Amino acid sequence: MARPVARGTTRLLVRDLVQVVTAAAGALPRRGAELAAVEVVDDAFILCEGEQIAAVGRMRDLPALDGEVEELDGRGLCGVPGLVDCHTHPAWGGDRVEEFSLRAAGASYEELHAAGGGILSTVRATRALGADGLRERVERHAGWFLAHGTTTWEGKSGYGLDRETELASLRAVRGAGGLPTWLGAHSVPPEFDDADAYLDYALAEVLPEAAELAVAADVFLERGAFDARQARRYLLACREAGLALRLHGDQFTESGAVPLAVELGARSVDHLEATGDEGVRLLAEHDVVGVLLPASALFLDRPMPPARALADAGAPLALATDFNPGSAFTSSLPLICSLACTQLHLSPEEALTAATVNAAHVLGLADGRGRIAPGYRADVTLLGAPDWRYLAYHLAGDVVAAVVRGGSLVLRR
Ligand code: NIG
Ligand code: FE
Repeated sequence: MARPVARGTTRLLVRDLVQVVTAAAGALPRRGAELAAVEVVDDAFILCEGEQIAAVGRMRDLPALDGEVEELDGRGLCGVPGLVDCHTHPAWGGDRVEEFSLRAAGASYEELHAAGGGILSTVRATRALGADGLRERVERHAGWFLAHGTTTWEGKSGYGLDRETELASLRAVRGAGGLPTWLGAHSVPPEFDDADAYLDYALAEVLPEAAELAVAADVFLERGAFDARQARRYLLACREAGLALRLHGDQFTESGAVPLAVELGARSVDHLEATGDEGVRLLAEHDVVGVLLPASALFLDRPMPPARALADAGAPLALATDFNPGSAFTSSLPLICSLACTQLHLSPEEALTAATVNAAHVLGLADGRGRIAPGYRADVTLLGAPDWRYLAYHLAGDVVAAVVRGGSLVLRR
């Protein structure tokens, strides 16, 4: 029987795909055995109507389609859900290539930070860019994300640390199609003597407008940045202003980020390289998602987070790039999936769920993004590969052949 469709709706049929894979339906966020529960359809089609997925199935079950349908030849391709990068820092000027050389020669990231380099050197370069320059940089970075198969991404401010540059960063992220997070507590800028004086300013002068632009707030809870008391103060004010909460925690030291995230009902706590048994247990008992950033541990030559222990204990996990100029200069979620399998000892199935539906959950979007199923936004990343697991298997490979976003082909190689 022909499938009826409302007049004027555009349709895209991706046909003859080698495989389509998606996280199976389940509770949010996925954890335990459900983290690895994926559905694979061989010899498959995906039918998009308007911006949504209308049907997925085997070619032999493809219904007759009346009227106009655009077709995309999927031979030699595997369809995975459009990837979701739930943790990036795309709003910055300059670069950190000099610092990269110094680190290669033995300097540590924390030493450089303490000496006024690191994040604060990017703050100087970002303030110098201006709003137009920032917009141009964020758009360039968004193009890199798309080229690696990312169809939904979060973008943090945090390299302005003054009113004008923080708000310009959030606007630039929104303008480039990202979900803005106000990382107003990333570091204490040089014009303030201490963290509390800076927070007085940020919460009084920046938060009111940041809360209109951003969907979430984030803080760097770490030695040399903000302590747990200061982080609580910042996050409580942001929650009061209507923002969802995120934390950078346990990157170098275990400083109370996991208990604070649980106490405040944060969406996620991100990094976790230094998380111990008690943190693992807490995350397993609550819905705060642990966002793992293996590129950052790799780039800084630091220990990897205890991913296998977290997954085995039943903690909900997501994966992200942490794209930024200092600790993780990569825009590739396929690379992150590779690292997840080789360094974090997650399975390709767990990595897929963590970089799609669970990442969408961290952004509050999991009811409509992160899966290939009817009613979801038609975001599909097409891999030029004979098996969907090449997503993780082909280390730093050029696996992304095409991207469909919102039912339209937006990238083709
Ligand atoms: O997530 N750790 C804090 N923030 C970023 C790095 C920022 C930078 O080095 O510029 C991160 O790793
Ligand atoms: Fe980060």
